[in-house]
Amino acid sequence: MRLFVALLPDDATRKVLVATQDALEPLLEKGRRTAVGNLHLTLAFIGEVDEDGCHHIDRALAGVQADALVGPIALGRPGMFAKRRGSVVWRGLQDGAALEGVRILHDRIALALGVAGFPVDERFSPHMTLFRSARLAEGARLDEPVLPDARWQPTAFHLMLSHRPEGGELTYTPLAEFPLH
Ligand code: 2AM
Repeated sequence: MRLFVALLPDDATRKVLVATQDALEPLLEKGRRTAVGNLHLTLAFIGEVDEDGCHHIDRALAGVQADALVGPIALGRPGMFAKRRGSVVWRGLQDGAALEGVRILHDRIALALGVAGFPVDERFSPHMTLFRSARLAEGARLDEPVLPDARWQPTAFHLMLSHRPEGGELTYTPLAEFPLH
C-alpha cells in the first residue's frame, strides 16, 4: 500500500481551494485538477509498505509529540513546481508561527519515521497541490488573480492511503488520525 502523512483542510478551506482552482484555471493551457476530496498538505511521503510496515508506522506516528504545535493556518500565495512532463500548481501557506509549527511537525514526523526504519525526505516545501500535468499559458502570471483567503485550525494529522478503489479514481483515504491538541 502507498502511504503518506498529511494535514487535511476543513470544508470551508476546501471550498476556498476550489475557488482558487477556478481563479487559476483560465491561466493554464492545460492542467488536471486535484479532486476536492483529495486536497491536502503532505507532511511526509512514505511510499509503498506492507501491512506490517503500516502497523509500525502507525505506532511511530502515535509517539510524535504534537500537542498545541500548530495554530490556525492561513492559505498563502500560489506557485508552481516546474517539471518536464507537466508542472504542479499549488497554493502555499502564509508565513508566521503556524507555518513554523507545521515545519516542526514535519521534522518530528520525519525523525519518528526514520527511527522506525522508514526514512522520508527531510526537505519540506509546504504546499497544497491544485493541478498536476499543468502548463501555464503564454504570458500568464499565477500571482495576478486576487485569491480568496481562508484560515483553519487543524485538529489532527493523518496517515493517508493513496489508492484507486476498484481500479477507478485516485483517492486519498485517512487510515489513522493523530490529534494535535
Ligand atoms: P503533492 O503533495 O505535491 O501533491 C500522495 O501521493 C502525496 O504524496 C501527493 O500529495 C504527492 O505530492 C506526494 N508524493 C507523491 N510521490 C512523492 C514522492 N516521490 N516524493 C515526495 N512526495 C510525493
